[in-house]
Amino acid sequence: MKLLLVAGARPNFMKIAPIIRALRAKSKELSEICISFNSMPSAPCSKLSWKLVHTGQHYDYEMSQAFFDDLEINRPDYFLGVGSGSHAVQTARIMIAFEEVCYKERPDMVVVVGDVNSTVACALVAKKLGIGVAHVEAGLRSRDLTMPEEINRMVTDLLSDWLFVSEKSGIENLKKEGKSDSSIFFVGNIMIDTLYYNLNRLNDSTTHGPIDGDYAVLTLHRPSNVDPENKLKEIMGAIFEIGSDLPVYFPVHPRTRERMEVIGLVNKFDGGPVHLLPPLPYKSFLKLYKDASLVLTDSGGLQEETTALGIPCFTIRENTERPVTIEEGTNTLVGVTGGGILSAFEKFKKGENKRGRIPELWDGKAAERIVSILLRKID
Ligand code: UD1
Repeated sequence: MKLLLVAGARPNFMKIAPIIRALRAKSKELSEICISFNSMPSAPCSKLSWKLVHTGQHYDYEMSQAFFDDLEINRPDYFLGVGSGSHAVQTARIMIAFEEVCYKERPDMVVVVGDVNSTVACALVAKKLGIGVAHVEAGLRSRDLTMPEEINRMVTDLLSDWLFVSEKSGIENLKKEGKSDSSIFFVGNIMIDTLYYNLNRLNDSTTHGPIDGDYAVLTLHRPSNVDPENKLKEIMGAIFEIGSDLPVYFPVHPRTRERMEVIGLVNKFDGGPVHLLPPLPYKSFLKLYKDASLVLTDSGGLQEETTALGIPCFTIRENTERPVTIEEGTNTLVGVTGGGILSAFEKFKKGENKRGRIPELWDGKAAERIVSILLRKID
């Protein structure tokens, strides 16, 4: 049985790392299974082998290699180097390059994670070649088709044979879309595997920014928030006001940095309470936000990570595909207006915070469950 594991963009790397670790652990446990590593590409005894494909959707050191180093992911067997482009161009380039890999490797199964363009592109290629597709983080739905990720999620799930679900809403969503019970596996949240694994490994990782006193952390990169000039100015205006009460540390995504430079926003923050940082490696970022009083974000994964750590989170969006973080966790949807963000912050200042609890199966063992299920399917 040969697996191809696909990762392409920053939020994929923390999802693929625990799968690789679980595959390695399983191979030790089951002596008859031999996994082919980079260093011995054609291990003679292997019943199960895997190779890692990095599409190159993200390519800056801070967005890619820093995560491989931090998360101890071995060098990819294939680097497709597709880079940036419009959605069609990027998705098409990934498809063309990944199809070549599939022809060469003839895998039995392709494992894709998350909801980025690399996820949908590789799922589509595999399915058309008759290769089984496993999707990790299946079933999440925002019902907002203006989000490219929602399209990616829906198409990927439609094509997938094995659907690994992180929260219960995913089971219902997939059933409503006609997926069979036998293809859906509620395994818990793989992001949280990486979170717990790395919480104990922070000692020698560096971080930028604060450490004394209270502070907030901001991330912002969604095109709908950062591409329109007025929207970005409005959101950053609200953040600036929050900064006068609570210093804000802001690792800036390259897309956002570029937009801020174009509209002359970057210099406005010099010496002020909103501290712009470069994109941080996984452990440095974790070290920064784990002690924050408040996180503001439009990311998907950070909504989950803050829920797991019990940190209040303001999600700067109108909707979320991760409703368990609202219903059970510490997440609040504050919308995308300056007024919405500031009125939520007023409540926060009065101590009106959600306490939250950790959702079911967010226990650091999702990857073990996924690998056990995949091995059962192989038998
Ligand atoms: C992608 C994902 C998004 C995810 C985000 C995390 C899709 C549709 N979107 O969005 O779901 O939350 O990654 O970061 O797949 N760029 C660089 N260096 C890089 C990568 C990107 O400078 O290493 C810049 C380029 O200008 C590029 C832009 O960022 O055009 C956008 O990159 P892209 O991968 O298209 O989408 P993201 O906004 O990063």
